[in-house]
Amino acid sequence: MGSKTTRGRLITFEGIDGSGKTTQLKKSAQYLEQRGLEVVVLREPGSTKVSEKIRRILLDPTLEISDLTELLLYEAARAEVVEREMRPLLARGTTILCDRFYDSTTAYQGYGRGLDLSMVKKLHTIAVGDVRPDLTFVFDLPFATALTRRGKNPDRLESQSKAFFRRVARGFRELARSEPGRVKLINAKPSIEKIFSAVTRELDKLLRLS
Ligand SMILES: Nc1ncnc2c1ncn2[C@@H]1O[C@H](COP(=O)(O)OP(=O)(O)OP(=O)(O)O)[C@@H](O)[C@H]1O
Ligand SMILES: [Mg+2]
Repeated sequence: MGSKTTRGRLITFEGIDGSGKTTQLKKSAQYLEQRGLEVVVLREPGSTKVSEKIRRILLDPTLEISDLTELLLYEAARAEVVEREMRPLLARGTTILCDRFYDSTTAYQGYGRGLDLSMVKKLHTIAVGDVRPDLTFVFDLPFATALTRRGKNPDRLESQSKAFFRRVARGFRELARSEPGRVKLINAKPSIEKIFSAVTRELDKLLRLS
């Protein structure tokens, strides 16, 4: 499992654009803080100066980026946040909630773009080493529903086709199937509160809060 050399926990929030990741992450942060945990929220790509600059490139709708470059930029942003933020925080015993992590890269660049999955996973290992999530939520929502929840002005990734998002969603489901201990597939169609009760069940189990 994750964080062998560390004491904290890393919990990641995954799913297609507009699936409710940030909504559930914010509620989870509040829930865990109320229970006395030291919580830090990070996002990927981002959360360091360099990673936020890389994020701006990655989401810029005016740029065309080749698939391999895109993959490497995500992994570069990830290596930076792992080294500068995650490792020190986990060593202090912090609970990290991260909005997207390497499963998004597997789903988008691997399943979505069609890059070789074993290469993608090898690059995750190079970028993160042993900093692996202890728990991952995948919010599963039909593309059409996610689209109605999203705002206007799509970023570079959001303006991809329906077929692309179908492949991405399938990728997330495959991940949940292949690592059921870590990756929890959460039906993201019901109300925010109903979804959150499924989330807290898993948080309680991991952190033995109940
Ligand atoms: N269960 C829900 N039912 C209805 N609306 C929801 C639900 N969860 C979130 N929303 C709304 O849908 C929109 C997208 O949610 P949110 O920003 O949490 O998704 P996200 O996965 O973080 O999206 P992005 O990938 O674009 O960051 C928000 O306006 C949010 O209030
Ligand atoms: Mg979000």
